[in-house]
Amino acid sequence: MIIRTFETPDETAAAVAQRVVRALAEKPALVVGLPTGQTPIATYAELRRRHAAGEVDFARATTFNLDEFAGIPPSHPGSFRMFMERHLFQGINLAPARTHFLDGTAPDLDVECERYEAAIGAAGGIDLLLAGIGANGHIGFNEPGDTLSARTHRVALAASTRRHNAALFGGDPADVPREALSMGIGTMLKAGAIVLVATGAHKAACIERAVHGPVTTRLPASFLQLHRHVELYLDAAAASRLGPR
Ligand code: GLP
Repeated sequence: MIIRTFETPDETAAAVAQRVVRALAEKPALVVGLPTGQTPIATYAELRRRHAAGEVDFARATTFNLDEFAGIPPSHPGSFRMFMERHLFQGINLAPARTHFLDGTAPDLDVECERYEAAIGAAGGIDLLLAGIGANGHIGFNEPGDTLSARTHRVALAASTRRHNAALFGGDPADVPREALSMGIGTMLKAGAIVLVATGAHKAACIERAVHGPVTTRLPASFLQLHRHVELYLDAAAASRLGPR
């Protein structure tokens, strides 16, 4: 794993944005995997700023979001589609037809997961996958457990994950859907390159385990050790248990 550390969350976000800008300059028809959560908000703001400055063009890019809540229509303010509209898509020139999401209201969610796998394949696979990490070590919505699904699948959300996402649903964890759809670990590991971003002291323990611990379904991010091109972008707090720089 390539580990890049920065003093602050803002410096980390600027570096991740620069990584995306560079990838798009090298390959304008880039296929990108996108996360939600608090961590990427600053990166997305920086990408909007750089697009407004004429420094990055998304016209030929394609995106696939990592996950979506089950039972939530795309237009719901808590949906990850709306999150992406607010934080990134409204400020850049991505073609709406090339922004892809799992549909949590599809009549058959298993069929929907297979549709998504096929759509990723039809796009030629993901070139650059950006990911965050939950404090319990989840990536996408692949929660810790006895087993992990390799392919895009339905997941039951951990109580801690539902609490963490409560703000999207008015603040009450009880209003957060119990289920979601997520790319599988295998889907993610097929990406050409993976950029994992983490900031804050509350991520330090799971980053240490993801980098140095055993590969285990108890910490889904540990599976990134199996990929040959993973870059970690960390602020000093998230990197604080990795040893001296
Ligand atoms: C969410 C998302 C993940 C994200 C994680 C961390 O539940 N499904 O894709 O990486 O939690 O979120 P945050 O960046 O807010 O810590």
